[in-house]
Amino acid sequence: MAKTPQRSGRFIVLEGIDGAGKTEQSRRLAEWLGERGHSVVETREPTDGPWGRRYRAWARGDFEAAPTEVLNFFVEDRREHIEAVIEPALEKGEIVICDRYIHSTLAYQAAAGLDRQMLAEMFNDGSFPKPDLILWLRLPVLLAMERMGQAATERFEHSEFLDRVDEEYARLEGLQVVDASREIEQVQRGVRECVERLLG
Ligand code: TYD
Repeated sequence: MAKTPQRSGRFIVLEGIDGAGKTEQSRRLAEWLGERGHSVVETREPTDGPWGRRYRAWARGDFEAAPTEVLNFFVEDRREHIEAVIEPALEKGEIVICDRYIHSTLAYQAAAGLDRQMLAEMFNDGSFPKPDLILWLRLPVLLAMERMGQAATERFEHSEFLDRVDEEYARLEGLQVVDASREIEQVQRGVRECVERLLG
């Protein structure tokens, strides 16, 4: 049965291709909100739980899996993450900053060839809390590849694939675009402006 949590917190998601700088931007945002007296939970997907570890083993090339199996790793990881981290924090009134969430699945797994509508419908059963704000840190794929440099070794980290992911993100609704091609500080300013509008 769909849960309707008593929810007083705020749920902020950062999205974008690999190399967009989400991790650094989430860290800075969490620090800034913390300094302003907010209680903040900084988290990310895939998690370090069993499903997230399985995904990472596949991404490193340890075994082969069909796109639907890979999808399943992310969905099961998300269910556990919601139950263990996201919902409890929202119920306590905290601000959750999540590095990747549903829109990563919608963009990456569509780019991997799965049906867009099937993907969108998966998350509509009421058991996936809706973010209050989704920031899309957007930058040209070539710049992201340059930033990743030697670190770009996983299956999804090559430019033709990331071009498709960028196209998929562009099709999605409800994302607020932040120009992530700028210096870290300027990107963070863009992120904070959106968050300030949300918190009022
Ligand atoms: P990433 O944020 O790069 O984590 P790590 O630092 O552990 O590599 O995310 C891992 C990859 O997983 C990234 O290429 C995006 C991909 N991904 C999906 O394909 N679907 C999803 O639902 C999620 C959450 C991530």
